Amino acid sequence: MQRKMKGTYDILPSESSRWQAVERAIRRVSKIYNYKEIRTPIFEQSELFHRSVGEDTDIVSKETYDFKDRGDRDNTLRPEGTAGVVRSVIENKLYAADIPVQKLYYMGPMFRYERPQKGRYRQFHQFGAEAFGSNSPLLDAEMISYAVSVLKSLKLKEVTVKINSLGDSQSKEDYKIALLNYLEPNVKHLCKDCQTRYKTNPLRILDCKVDKGSLVLKEAPKPLDYLTKESQEHFDNLVKYLDQMDIAYTIDKALVRGLDYYTHTVFEVDANVSSLGAQKTLCGGGRYNNLVNDLDGPDIPAVGFAFGIERLLLALESIDYKGDAEYIHLFMMILGDDQKEDAAKMIQRCRLGGLYVDTDFLDRSMKSKFNQAESHNARFVAIYGANEKEANTINIKDQESGIQETIETDQLYTYIMTKLMEPSSKCETCEDDDCDDCS
Ligand code: HAM
Repeated sequence: MQRKMKGTYDILPSESSRWQAVERAIRRVSKIYNYKEIRTPIFEQSELFHRSVGEDTDIVSKETYDFKDRGDRDNTLRPEGTAGVVRSVIENKLYAADIPVQKLYYMGPMFRYERPQKGRYRQFHQFGAEAFGSNSPLLDAEMISYAVSVLKSLKLKEVTVKINSLGDSQSKEDYKIALLNYLEPNVKHLCKDCQTRYKTNPLRILDCKVDKGSLVLKEAPKPLDYLTKESQEHFDNLVKYLDQMDIAYTIDKALVRGLDYYTHTVFEVDANVSSLGAQKTLCGGGRYNNLVNDLDGPDIPAVGFAFGIERLLLALESIDYKGDAEYIHLFMMILGDDQKEDAAKMIQRCRLGGLYVDTDFLDRSMKSKFNQAESHNARFVAIYGANEKEANTINIKDQESGIQETIETDQLYTYIMTKLMEPSSKCETCEDDDCDDCS
């Protein structure tokens, strides 16, 4: 038997409705914030990720899925979405469009060769957003608000927004020098990875999981203390806007993020729920004002974020989120071969009218047919046998009200539609009968 690759998984039919519900919520909130969907290829030239995410990051140095194609070109399965979106914005000159600030979002699979565990996979899905063309901290605030709104729309409340600033290139350079000077006498006390990072990517030392609690790191200089005047102003304004928008946040001076392209604002959203295990970060993002230019595009500032959709779904388990209920409108029970032609016609009529309809294709017993109707969560069950054919009628039962009626066959579609239009006493939010609690 062939088995799936390590770190991958199937989204089975029993789970896909939860995925669809989350995707719908994401699309709804994206519309509210006026972000438009972009879809970019799953593989790109390897060089794109080396030049954007960064040669010395864990993602590029240890985790990419690289392959040569038959034309001997170096390809990489995308480990994240930002690089491809930036490539597309430059290649398609989206920055020159009538709309001066391009606001884009995407959803899709990403690939990282990581050690799999709960909430961490080798093929996973991100929902990300990127906005190009403005350096306004109002746009950073909008991004954070957008991310928080997605969580609110899914009724996830136990979340923490952490923000920090790395500042502009000058701030980053000043900070790097200060950090290197500070760490120089202490390098030998750091973990092995950090000893390498000291040479290749010193900023990453700040959020090392191993050295995190050490006194050396606690007392290390922090990026916020090295901001230029303009960078400080940018951060101060972001904080003011978040306050006005009533978005709760904490300033995490050690937050640096694992990709090289960030400048100014960086942020993460953690969920404080046990169902997530160790991988508590649902969303990470920040500003990347130099990346478009670094990838041979014009000098255009940008900001964005990405959620891990698997982690979102894991977090939703803690609030018993079920997604939208799966159902069909009609399950047609055909009793006898002679009735199949008429039944096929009725089913077709109902489907052409937009009803969700299914039937039993295995000629099973009445009991099995009823079980199937129940498994499909059918609102109506119709029975069509020899007696009904004789009388040109069909028996139909409303599973919700329990009412059973015999109607003329050509009335089937209209009958169901009329019933569906009647107001239901069920609450649309919690699906309880006569609920007074949900608004
Ligand atoms: P990232 O922090 O590398 O940022 O990933 C964003 C989110 O993707 C993480 O917070 C996590 O929820 C999810 N994620 C990452 N790796 C895995 C994995 N192996 N398994 C499951 N989920 C995972 C970025 O990717 C940036 N492109 C975000 C960004 C967009 N910054 C600016 N614009």
